Amino acid sequence: GLVNTKELFAKAVKGGYAIPAYNFNNLEQLQAIIQACVETKSPVILQVSSGARKYANANLLRNMARGAVEYAHELGYDIPVVLHLDHGDSFELCKDCIESGFSSVMIDGSHLSYEENVALTKKVCDFAHSQKDYVTVEGELGVLAGVEDDVSSEHSHYTQPEEVEDFVKKTGVDSLAISIGTSHGATKFKPEQCTRNADGVLIPPELRFDILSQIEKRIPGFPIVLHGSSSVPVQYTKMIEQYGGVMKDTVGIPEEQLRKAAKSAVCKINIDSDGRLAMTALIRKVFAEKPGEFDPRKYLGPARDELKVLYMHKNKEVLGSAGQA
Ligand code: G3H
Ligand code: 13P
Ligand code: NA
Ligand code: ZN
Repeated sequence: GLVNTKELFAKAVKGGYAIPAYNFNNLEQLQAIIQACVETKSPVILQVSSGARKYANANLLRNMARGAVEYAHELGYDIPVVLHLDHGDSFELCKDCIESGFSSVMIDGSHLSYEENVALTKKVCDFAHSQKDYVTVEGELGVLAGVEDDVSSEHSHYTQPEEVEDFVKKTGVDSLAISIGTSHGATKFKPEQCTRNADGVLIPPELRFDILSQIEKRIPGFPIVLHGSSSVPVQYTKMIEQYGGVMKDTVGIPEEQLRKAAKSAVCKINIDSDGRLAMTALIRKVFAEKPGEFDPRKYLGPARDELKVLYMHKNKEVLGSAGQA
């Protein structure tokens, strides 16, 4: 069955790697995630956002995730599978997911005041931890930058290291998402924050590893989570443009920096956008090359196969989770 994150994170922190947290909204994404994680023998966190529940239906998604455990077995290797609510924004949503079988939830109170964040996160933890099967909870301190945010250096939403120990103690969270420079989507930095290489590709500034290490000193060995960790491969943005799409100023987190983060107490790395880009690139390619194709399996199939390649690469070459299941 589904497992919570407790043991997985303890092992990952000790072992110096990170568990992949991949979002899914549909069948093909889920197939690719499970195929890739079985083939690389990696534990996996299946993430469902509230947007995913609205798009695909909550009942369908949770039953698909349960089916994924059997699917892995059928593929020949039992990997630990976590079903996790991504960016829960209320106690009621977390409770609903917990009662319907999620093994882990995130309560994202990062936009609230510190006191309100503590109170809400504690409320979710008290409920999640009192279940017959302990449900793990991820909290968040610090706000991830949005594309619309100001770039000025004064304007910092980075996690404040002096708050983390108190937050973890008061709430009882099992893991903590932090803000050290990552953000959601395919445009993680403004062009003016970046330099350009000889090919005109945007090179982003380094993540704030100094803040990460201050956080680690305050809560040694405590499981840390990185959101917004897509690398936005040029290979896919180029392909999307080649086949008629428009990609503007896209830039992600370089793999080298994620590799470095995975060796620290960062033990969960969230990736969604890269999968979206890979799927879009392959679907555009099929449409461009075979304009007469109208069987969805003929374009969703190649998209799924590319997704699998992408996830295997992440597990093996970036997160280090391959071989850990
Ligand atoms: O953090 C956001 C994830 O990429 C999920 O995105 O809310 O559009 O499903 P979504
Ligand atoms: P990306 O947009 O970088 O893939 O981040 C996904 C994420 O953080 C999901 O919670
Ligand atoms: Na790690
Ligand atoms: Zn996120």
